[in-house]
Amino acid sequence: MRKPIIIANWKMYKNRAAAVAFCQALVPLLHTTEKADIVICAPFTQLDVLADALAGSAVGVGAQNFYPAAEGAFTGEVSLPMLQELGVRYVIVGHSERRELFHEDDMLVRQKVQAAYAAGIQPILCVGERLEQREQDMTVEVCSGQLLSAINGLTGTQLRTLIVAYEPIWAIGTGKTATAADAEQVISALRQAVAAQYGQAVADCVRFQYGGSVKPENISQLMAQPNVDGALVGGASLKAESFIQLVHYA
Ligand code: PGA
Repeated sequence: MRKPIIIANWKMYKNRAAAVAFCQALVPLLHTTEKADIVICAPFTQLDVLADALAGSAVGVGAQNFYPAAEGAFTGEVSLPMLQELGVRYVIVGHSERRELFHEDDMLVRQKVQAAYAAGIQPILCVGERLEQREQDMTVEVCSGQLLSAINGLTGTQLRTLIVAYEPIWAIGTGKTATAADAEQVISALRQAVAAQYGQAVADCVRFQYGGSVKPENISQLMAQPNVDGALVGGASLKAESFIQLVHYA
């Protein structure tokens, strides 16, 4: 069965000292065996101290962005081997903030997914619709389009390890959450879209998260849905007390 996975997306928050303080508060609260995988995706400048502070714990370290070339004349960019050197094992790809604010398109998202697999780093692929697309009943079309484009060319073995975060853009940082039933409906349609192209056995392995104003008060309802395997959490992941409640959602 799919192991639940709870991921913190710190976005552009915290400094190095705050990252270490968070880990010092979090790690003693973790159980020796957690029923969910746990990952923290931090800004570049905190990744090394995060990896040190989490060494020996079950919590993985993730980055929020990278450039899909090993090295080269790409001023301002950071490569996957550079991240790996810091202990990074996960990367967020295709977050709506990157798509909207930094104009990342489906082509770049696909290149990033492929580069991550080639480097042996686990991508966390984000898909999601805008409010007007939801209002026009285009949610599944938009999200499955983003998803199928991003995974085009992957092998079945790669796909089985994929993590997809369904994040309706109108629910990110707004306090508006999709209902658990909405999240389940979209995610089950996305799983079906993967099954139609790659087979049910592969689709059944993909872990789908919901993201968008997840907090301690709504996580258990979301996680109770059969197709929801985890959560990608921004705001409520910034405080250790609230993040530990999300990790121990049951
Ligand atoms: P939020 O962010 O939990 O603050 O809504 C989620 C995300 O953008 O990944």
